[in-house]
This record gives sequence, C-alpha cells and structure tokens, in this order.
Amino acid sequence: MFSYHDAFSRNLGWVTRGEQDILRAKRVAIAGLGGVGGSHLLTLARLGVGAFHIADFDTFDIANFNRQAGATTTSLGRRKADVLAEMARDVNPELEIKVFRQGVTSENLDEFFAGVDVYVDGLDFFAFAARQAVFAACAEKGIPAVTAAPLGMGAAILNFLPGRMTFEEYFRVQGQPEEEQAIRFLLGLSPAMLQMSYLVDKSRVNLAEKRGPSTVMACQLCAGLAATEALKLLLHRGRVRAAPWGLHFDAHRGKLAYTWRPWGNANPLQRLGLAIARRRLAAMPAFAPDIPKKPYTVIEQILDVARWAPSGDNTQVWRFEILDRHRVAVHGFDTRENCIYDVNGRPSQIALGTLLENIRIAASEHGLRADVSRREGEPDDKPVFDVAFIADSAVQRDPLLPYIPVRSVQRRPMRTRPLLDHERTALESAAGESFRIVWLEGFARKLDVAAMMSRAAELRLTLPEAYQVHRKVIEWNASFSEDRVPDQAIGLDQPTLRLMRWVMRSWGRVAFFNAYLAGTVMPRLQLDLLPGIACAAHFALIARARPETIDDYVNAGRAMQRFWLTATRLGLQLQPEMTPLIFSAYAREGVRFSETPGSLEKARHLSGQLARLIGDGAENAVFMGRIGAGRAAAARSLRLPLERLKVE
Ligand SMILES: Cc1cc2nc3c(=O)[nH]c(=O)nc-3n(C[C@H](O)[C@H](O)[C@H](O)COP(=O)(O)O)c2cc1C
Repeated sequence: MFSYHDAFSRNLGWVTRGEQDILRAKRVAIAGLGGVGGSHLLTLARLGVGAFHIADFDTFDIANFNRQAGATTTSLGRRKADVLAEMARDVNPELEIKVFRQGVTSENLDEFFAGVDVYVDGLDFFAFAARQAVFAACAEKGIPAVTAAPLGMGAAILNFLPGRMTFEEYFRVQGQPEEEQAIRFLLGLSPAMLQMSYLVDKSRVNLAEKRGPSTVMACQLCAGLAATEALKLLLHRGRVRAAPWGLHFDAHRGKLAYTWRPWGNANPLQRLGLAIARRRLAAMPAFAPDIPKKPYTVIEQILDVARWAPSGDNTQVWRFEILDRHRVAVHGFDTRENCIYDVNGRPSQIALGTLLENIRIAASEHGLRADVSRREGEPDDKPVFDVAFIADSAVQRDPLLPYIPVRSVQRRPMRTRPLLDHERTALESAAGESFRIVWLEGFARKLDVAAMMSRAAELRLTLPEAYQVHRKVIEWNASFSEDRVPDQAIGLDQPTLRLMRWVMRSWGRVAFFNAYLAGTVMPRLQLDLLPGIACAAHFALIARARPETIDDYVNAGRAMQRFWLTATRLGLQLQPEMTPLIFSAYAREGVRFSETPGSLEKARHLSGQLARLIGDGAENAVFMGRIGAGRAAAARSLRLPLERLKVE
C-alpha cells in the first residue's frame, strides 16, 4: 500500500524529515499544463508537495507529443488538466488537487490562489493577457511566482517575489500590441539569448502567428530549475534571486548566464536588445508549412530526395521524365564540350551513378526496388537510364536514407584526428567488393598529397580554359546556390575572396596577377595546402578492374555515393579532390587539353606524382578526396527544384 514517507524517503538527505513534512503541507498553483506546466506538476508531486491547484482549458493534440509530459496516444483529445491530475495522483494518491477546467479567468483567480504558497507558471508563451492577470494577482496577494521559460535546449528562470519588482515593472507589456508583447516577453525572460546561435531553421519561428519550435529537454530543464526555486521558497532555504535578476542555462552550449536588468525592459541595454530583436524578427524568413504545395506522387517523392546527389560544380547532369506510376527515365548529359574537368564525360558519369544510387536508397523507403537499365542506342554523352520501381518485400529502409540531403562538401580545414578502425571498416565495406580504398594518412603522406594538390591548382588556376569554367560555376556573394557553387563554400577567407572576385572579372587580370603578383599563392595555400594537411586522411577509390565503359564509371559513382553517405553517417566531412585524376587522365591519353604551352608536361608530372603516391592501380583510381571529423560546411550548394528537373 502507498505510504507517503516511503514514497518520498529518497528525498531525505537533500531535505530533512521535518522539511519533507512541511512540503507535504504546502499548496502550489500551476496555470497551464502543457510543455512546462505538466512537468512542473509531476516534478513537484515527486518532491512530495501535498496540494495543487491546476488550471488548463486545453485538450491534448498530436503536436504536443514532442514535449508535453501528458501527451500520449491514449490521452489524445482529453483535457490536459484531467490527464495530468490522474498522472500526479498515480504518483501520490493522497494528493489534494483542485482542477480548474476553464483555465485561469478573471472570475476564478481568487479561488485559484486561495491558500496557495507558491505559483509556478506553465502558461503558453502567447497567453499574454492571462499571464499578466495571474502575475498581478500574485503580487497583490503576496504569493511568490516562479517562471521558467523553455528556450531552445535550455531554460531561463525569473522569479517575482512579494515586495520586489513586479511582472509589469519588469516586462512593461501593458497596452502594447501582441507582437511587441511577445518580443518584450522573450527578451525579458532571456536577455542573454543563448539559444539563438543554434536556431537551425529560422522559418519555424513566427511570433505573429504564435508559433515557435520547442524541445522536451528545455521543458525538463525548466521543471528542474523551477522546482528547485519552489523548494527554496517553500522551505525558506537561502537566497532566491528575483527580477531584475535572471538566470539562463543552455545545455546545448554548456553555458550559464546570470542577467541583471534594473528597470527591466526599460533598461537602456535592454532597449537596444529589443531594437535588434525587432529588426531580426522582421528579417526572419516566411514561415514554412510542412505540407507540400502539390499532390506528390511516390516517384516524385523519390526523385525529390535523389536530386541531392553531388555533381562536378553542381551541374546536376540529369533530367527526369516520369513515364508512368512505376517508371522514370533519367536523361543524363555531360559537359565535356565546355568544361575542362569533364574528361570524356567521366566525372559526369560518376555523378549520374551517385544519382542512381540515391534513387535506389530513396525508393527503399517505400518498399520499392529500383531496377536500372541503360537504354541501348543512346550516345554516351546523352545516356538514358530507365528505372522501374518494383514492390519487393525483401527491400528494407536503407539506413543511409536520411543522410542524402545532409551530405555536402566541406572545403575548409577538418580535424586531424586519424580515422578510427570502425570508421575505416565501414567506409571500405560501403564501397563494395569491386573497389578498394587506398588511404594516404600521417603527416608526411598528407603533406605529399597537399603538395600534389597545390601543383594541380597551379596548373588549373593558370589555364584560360579553366578560368572560363570557374567564372560560370561560382555564384558570387552567396552562401547557397541552386545551380552553381556559392563563393562562400569555396574555402577562401573573405579578403582573398574579395580580391578573387575582382581579379576574375577578366582573364587579362587573372593572367597579370598570376604572372607578376604570385596570384595563385593565396588560393593554393587556402584551398589545397592547409586543408590538405587539416584532415584525417586522403583516400583514393580504386576499381579492381580497369574502368572503361560508361557503365563502369556509373558504378564507380554508385560506390562513391555509398562511401560519401557512410562518411556523413559517421559524422565525417569529405571533399573530392578530382583534379590529379583528371590531369592524369589527360596525360595518360596524351590529350592536348589546353592552349597553354607546357600544360601537358605539367599534367604528366602530376600523373607521375599520383602513381608514386597510390602505387599499383593508380590508373584505376576513379575517385579521390580528403576526409575527416569536423563541422559541416555552413555554406553549400542547393539543387534545382524538382519541377525544373522534370522534362515531358
Ligand atoms: C564527380 C565529381 C567530382 C567533383 N570534384 C570536386 C573537386 O575536385 N573539388 C571539390 O571541391 N568538389 C568536387 N566535387 C563536389 C561538387 O562540387 C559538389 O558535390 C557540388 O557542388 C554539390 O555540392 P554538395 O555536394 O555540397 O551538395 C565533385 C563532385 C563530383 C560528383
């Protein structure tokens, strides 16, 4: 049978037996039983508080599941107050709980606060009028009030104690329009704003529509902080800071900030913060609803994921012709005519392989097998792949699926910690049996590769043919680009980038810079030498059989995509380093790829360097790159929308 003293005996030590008895005799009011309120109630019930007044008029909805203690499949549609009262009574059947099913209203405020020792706020962020009324009543009745605001993955606490600064004196929200109230409330709660630096999708915040993202971690941190404040207040255990003092702990950043804002939102520092917040909010992107705009067939869903495949310079060498509900034709093309890097269209064929592998992985989500066959009679520079989707009970959801849109090039320095055994094994097996990986690791080896990359860069940066390509594929002043590579993703620092933007306006400037001002030095240092060392390893993907046909290169692309997605799954960053392979191919095949005298000799030299580094089978290398732990790139290429990739 239930015994109060047994149930809460493990509190003893942190509270005395006498204090536990005092908690049993206390009454706490909680308005709002959503994300924080529900956790407040259950936390305080486990602390052994004996009586509660709880108020909420709302019912549980599916959107509450991510954070609200009472939101479960069995409580859907039920009143939050009833569900939470049951849950709390399940912890302590002796609880005295008074439930206010209409929420707090001007009519029931007196009853709600009758005999209450502490108020803990659980009201919805946007319930401005109710909150003002509740805090005003607390001040008038001399009841200490605790607010804990869930912010990102942290919590900010602010107490209003009898005889001290009041809620209105601090927030100054009366008479303000609702959006302004929201900004004042937010900034008043968290002057430190620790959470903003990791708000990864700003379009999810919309104060005007009263929507914002939330996490369960924040709610639970709030419950822990607020219950501790409540305990101190109820037991008179030491100093409790009150407004204008606040405290914000952010678990994501591992940071604690005490804030002190005398005059609250009227404080000059706070007014400045409010002005900045208003400007930032005005610049927030439009709220993005989850629902796709058009009816979306299964094939479209698959292609919409698959289009995130990589391609040289983000050229996206594919177009989709949806033939019927089960079949799509992928029309490939290459850029060998106008891109010096696209040797015989092979890099484009590799890119097509990455796309086809993505299609296979994306289809697995729908229990579909993707059977691919290259259409006969089509030229290699315009290959067509017929893909048939077939329901297959043996197909399991591929674990690489969620990494398709996340995978991206990192051209900046990575961490130098060597690859771990399990990482190496996973990557090798991802490439499959037809390929082996040569790892180039250790400082000396990495330096060799960095030097080779730098030589390749010297060559390409001085070729007018490559200049034409670079001009076309870089999108200037951009962090994101749908059809090119944004300049911010190239890996250069801002001054060099600015200079390069200016120099690259004409080939005359480039040639002059290269000839007289050592124009390639800074880019090579930043793009090749330093990153070449700042990584765990370089790698080369070597085909066991000499690749010859378009199908061989497509298969290489498929292997490479599994390799790259596996790297992403392991939290590793990757950058392709294709230029040594490209120039080696020109050298091997004796192709005069540039008008510039001496370029073929330089390419031959590079080819020799590559062969020495890789050893046997260097001519079978289909892909090369650098890899390492570290942060994902902040700037990246995006993709053309599916609509623009579709052809009739
Ligand atoms: C065959 C192939 C060759 C590539 N070569 C290089 C390269 O030499 N250097 C580089 O930085 N990125 C290279 N890339 C990466 C592309 O530029 C990149 O995938 C594309 O811009 C899309 O960006 P994302 O991968 O970040 O989505 C290559 C990609 C492919 C598929």
